[in-house]
Amino acid sequence: MKNYDNVVIFDHPLIRHKIAILRDERTSMKEFRELVEEITTLMTYESLKGVQTTEIEVKTPLETCKQTVVADNSVVIVPILRAGLGMVNGVHVLFPSAKVGHIGMYRNEETLKPETYYCKLPEGIEEKLVVVVDPMLATGGSACDAIQLLKEKGCKNIKFMGIIGAPEGVSKLAETHPDVDIYVSTLDRCLNENGYILPGLGDAGDRLFGTK
Ligand code: PRP
Ligand code: URA
Repeated sequence: MKNYDNVVIFDHPLIRHKIAILRDERTSMKEFRELVEEITTLMTYESLKGVQTTEIEVKTPLETCKQTVVADNSVVIVPILRAGLGMVNGVHVLFPSAKVGHIGMYRNEETLKPETYYCKLPEGIEEKLVVVVDPMLATGGSACDAIQLLKEKGCKNIKFMGIIGAPEGVSKLAETHPDVDIYVSTLDRCLNENGYILPGLGDAGDRLFGTK
């Protein structure tokens, strides 16, 4: 895959360790859910380091000093349903005041094109840092359409976080939305004929919610 200025692929031993367990078909639904959250928190720590901050005064037992804290309510998390829901708590651990917008999409199994079935976003989202989360970036169709929808609603500051990316999906997203920073934990080999990522982890939604 080409190098893109707007793409960060994490290469961290802690994340690689957790992804190895996540991929394993024997990993239980509970452990899978926990790992998705933990990986998301590790990614959030790095991806959102440019978050808006504000200065406050803090009185220690000895004196008063100026300190920098994260500005309240500056981030909105937007999971792409269903699997993106599994990443929300992982961001909330670090940004508890973040509001959540939902975009519901499923891939048509034959065309692999995403269909949007739901959209509910917090008021004022246009002014916020919007973090779109979805563990799987396969063809890239869902992420591209979700971000297009957010741009049409006026959002200007958007980041995408995914856990596993296929080269096809990462390239498509990077080229369609060059103004969006894209963070993926790991880059896999390719897609199979059904649009599943190889080696991947299977269907993230089914593994998170036990639907298969
Ligand atoms: C999965 C995944 C992404 C999408 C990725 O969702 O969570 O949203 O596929 O594929 P793409 O990059 O080719 O668009 P799915 O459509 O299976 O719906 P689900 O999360 O409800 O299971
Ligand atoms: N969606 C998934 O859940 N897994 C894949 O491998 C591709 C799309």
